[in-house]
Amino acid sequence: MAKVTIDDITIEVPDGTTILEAARMIGPHVAPPTMCYYSKLKGTGGYCRTCIVKVEQGSEKDPRPMPKPVASCRTTVMDGMVVRNNTSPEIQEARAGITELLLINHPLDCPVCDQAGECHLQDLAFDHGKVKTRYEFERRTFTPQDIGDNVKLHMNRCILCYRCVKTCDQITDGRVHGVINRGDHAEISTYISNAIDNDFSGNIIDVCPVGALTDKTFRFKSRVWFTNPQEAHRDCDKCCGKVTLWTKGTDVLRVTARKDAFGEVEAFICNTCRFEKKQLSDWTIDGPRKVDHKSVISANHYQVKEAPKYLYDRVKLLNQGLDLPEVKDNK
Ligand code: SF4
Ligand code: FES
Repeated sequence: MAKVTIDDITIEVPDGTTILEAARMIGPHVAPPTMCYYSKLKGTGGYCRTCIVKVEQGSEKDPRPMPKPVASCRTTVMDGMVVRNNTSPEIQEARAGITELLLINHPLDCPVCDQAGECHLQDLAFDHGKVKTRYEFERRTFTPQDIGDNVKLHMNRCILCYRCVKTCDQITDGRVHGVINRGDHAEISTYISNAIDNDFSGNIIDVCPVGALTDKTFRFKSRVWFTNPQEAHRDCDKCCGKVTLWTKGTDVLRVTARKDAFGEVEAFICNTCRFEKKQLSDWTIDGPRKVDHKSVISANHYQVKEAPKYLYDRVKLLNQGLDLPEVKDNK
């Protein structure tokens, strides 16, 4: 075991734990932001540098500080290590620089982007972004591309975090997409225009931290904060069948995996659950979903409401094959 102190809070963690994992064990208020690391996938992290921290003391045995900020997702703790994240002005300034870099090519299209309200880059820009860009060159632009029947790629918004590539690599058979070219020309692409067509491809939408990969069945249907997130499940022979339904009245606008306090999925779900089960009667509703990840949905502006009783009554009628009465008041 190793003792590590992060922002003046000490915790004991198993040897081999990374600084990021240790910070997450303390809680989301201490954990550094992450744009490429994903706890449910192997080998992620090390691309975006948003998770940098200052190591004030390397270990009990060797108390020298580390000379530069380190990526917390790639650095393991040592016994007696002292780390600063939110309490280091130097790290806040460095993170602002990284945010500026990530935004160099990212369009300011939040008002029309489906990811708005649950976008990790939007949160990062809110916390660390500058009012104006200093970038004077033309931004990279790409034409939106269909990736299979249900996913749309907006490469303009991609920050090349590699999460979608790792997802396809690790949870689907026969990956056909990846990053082609290098440097300023690097882009996510399907290999020789192949569509991603397998049972778990929809998960790339959930892991994408920005709005680069969007659900074609949900695009432009509603701002996410106007929907009502509810936990639901069904018997599924391909995945756990445990999802979040994003409803408006009795309409299921979107189905996603359930996400934890860090905005990462709890378990990956299959395309049948995600794209084909869009009726309330397909699901057993477990109750309202608390959105833990820092987001406009959970920022007290829009609180998760208990699903209204009339909704449950209507599902019961649907399950019994009876006609639905007219809805008079949705509140
Ligand atoms: S499309 Fe999304 S998940 Fe894939 S590399 Fe780009 S930002 Fe990351
Ligand atoms: S989250 Fe650590 S480098 Fe991206």
